[in-house]
Amino acid sequence: MTVENEADLQGLLAIGRIVGLTLQHMIEQVKPGMTTAELDAIGAAFLEAHQARSAPILAYKFPGATCISINDEAAHGIPGERVIQPGDLVNVDVSAEKDGYWADTGMSVAVPPVSDEKQRLLDAARQALDIAIEHARAGRPIYEIGQAVEAHARKHGFQVIRELGGHGVGRHIHEKPSIPHYFNRHARQTLVEGQVITLEPFLTTGARHIRTMPDKWTLKTRDGSLSAQFEHTVIITGERPLLVTQV
Ligand code: CO
Ligand code: CO
Repeated sequence: MTVENEADLQGLLAIGRIVGLTLQHMIEQVKPGMTTAELDAIGAAFLEAHQARSAPILAYKFPGATCISINDEAAHGIPGERVIQPGDLVNVDVSAEKDGYWADTGMSVAVPPVSDEKQRLLDAARQALDIAIEHARAGRPIYEIGQAVEAHARKHGFQVIRELGGHGVGRHIHEKPSIPHYFNRHARQTLVEGQVITLEPFLTTGARHIRTMPDKWTLKTRDGSLSAQFEHTVIITGERPLLVTQV
């Protein structure tokens, strides 16, 4: 969507803050020995307490309020009986709707002890989001974001998952356009002032592609390499975008 008026702005900021706080609240409680269903329940209760509705449930009937993806799972991991282990790389993705406005955020965290490789991947993935934010400007073509992100990933010896990327958001969870986070010269459309998109590069220690697991939701890297993602919903301006999900 594109922000047209003050009501749009306030509606987005409200749901952006709720999903941002939900993510923070969940991440703070990640610990070894808990199941992903327990972690999801914490998020579900927090969303409900703020009168927000889980986007994955509302839009896709996903079997969980949030997506929790571990190690080589990149995205759309189903919360369940899996027990979080020491050393796991845990991605939590929270998206929700309130009063007709939708926002989407995510982050990865490593449970101690953290290997050198996992720490480097986390650092590079967080920086990749910062770089995406720097390159998302009104009047600039979408491909510049992926061009910068992919160059950064490769410089650090990592790859970007091609099938996953940013997307329009605001009046629904997934809107046009797609925002590739690798260099895709066909993504020539320019960003416009007020446009609402997500930025969410998925970096891996090797794979550029994913496969869908038999549960029909979980997306794993094809070669079993590790994945990390950081995501914000942003509003495009002529300068640095406004981070809707930053808390
Ligand atoms: Co997300
Ligand atoms: Co997203």
